Amino acid sequence: MTENASIKPLFESFHSQNLSLPNRTVMAPMTRGFSPGNVPGEDVAAYYRRRAENDVGLIVTEGTGINHPASVSGSSIPVFHGESSLNGWENVVKEVHEAGGKIVPQLWHVGMTRQVGDLPNKNAMPVGPSGLTLDGEKISEPMTEQEVSDMVEAYAQAAADAKRIGFDGIEIHGAHGYLIDQFLWEQTNQRTDKYGGDLTSRTRFAVEIVEACRNKVGPDFPIIFRFSQWKMNDYKAKIANSPSELEKILQPLVEAGVDIFHCSTRRFWEPEFEESSLNLAGWTKKLSGKPVISVGSVGLDGEFTSGTSANTTSLDGLMKKLENDEFDLVAIGRSLLMDPAWVAKIRDGRADELKPFSKEALSTLY
Ligand SMILES: Cc1cc2nc3c(=O)[nH]c(=O)nc-3n(C[C@H](O)[C@H](O)[C@H](O)COP(=O)(O)O)c2cc1C
Repeated sequence: MTENASIKPLFESFHSQNLSLPNRTVMAPMTRGFSPGNVPGEDVAAYYRRRAENDVGLIVTEGTGINHPASVSGSSIPVFHGESSLNGWENVVKEVHEAGGKIVPQLWHVGMTRQVGDLPNKNAMPVGPSGLTLDGEKISEPMTEQEVSDMVEAYAQAAADAKRIGFDGIEIHGAHGYLIDQFLWEQTNQRTDKYGGDLTSRTRFAVEIVEACRNKVGPDFPIIFRFSQWKMNDYKAKIANSPSELEKILQPLVEAGVDIFHCSTRRFWEPEFEESSLNLAGWTKKLSGKPVISVGSVGLDGEFTSGTSANTTSLDGLMKKLENDEFDLVAIGRSLLMDPAWVAKIRDGRADELKPFSKEALSTLY
């Protein structure tokens, strides 16, 4: 029961066409590197289960690699193909469902951020729209059209597998400068075929992925699309410089079958464009007509890319935006990394028990 009226908006139920949740909280996707051999084990399942037991509305898993040899960097990042990894994920779903939670996998390909020689497939070269790293260095050949369509199919297969093993939907990772975002971003996409050029053409890869996933999972299975303006190497980067540019990206994605947009920012309170105080999620909701997830330093006084510890802060500003319907759902990252009971503590008015974020949370499955 909600004891504190000021946090009421966070504990209203959420209902959209394909997804209903008991409250507005979402666990943000966070790479952990605790899956030896790329297989999520019992400890990973228990880690997600703890969040479900403590009333997180929707869990988005850490990024998990689609079926391509260069989709992830490292042998402890979970993948989403092959019998043992998919069995591991099926167990994660079982644990979360037993605890009454809902969970979607974040489908990921790192693209050109992979270093040559990275595990688990040392000989797999990084791939991307133009073979360019985020800093513009040419490392490999641009993906051929055949490679692009095989990649689209790999996302679709992952979506089908997610549905088959019991997940409650999927999230497609189109943010932060990874593969899909490398197509969206002018700096990394210098193609002159149908996947490059203007914003509409740069969005085509993402659109084909969403369409292919939608075809595999049918009309009722939730598809969330995560995107960002910022890139890992450039926090000021933008794929849309104005609301009308943002609309050019969103509209075809809506038509392709996105149910919910997850708009990744580092600080949720920052206005996205000059025209109003709306943040990226607020603009996305307004322009797309779809429900949106906002994220970025909820409950903390420092953003995650600073890599340092952060103290807890008031949720008043967040509640105001939620109450104004600027966005529908709120993803929480580091606060939930540190403390599986963050949501329950907020709900029960136990703010004095919240823990400040410490970097130790990165090396432990609390
Ligand atoms: C350890 C860590 C790993 C992350 N891994 C991912 C990831 O796999 N996929 C993704 O989209 N975002 C990732 N992020 C970004 C978070 O999802 C979130 O957007 C960010 O931490 C901001 O939320 P916060 O300020 O509440 O922590 C990661 C963040 C952290 C701290």
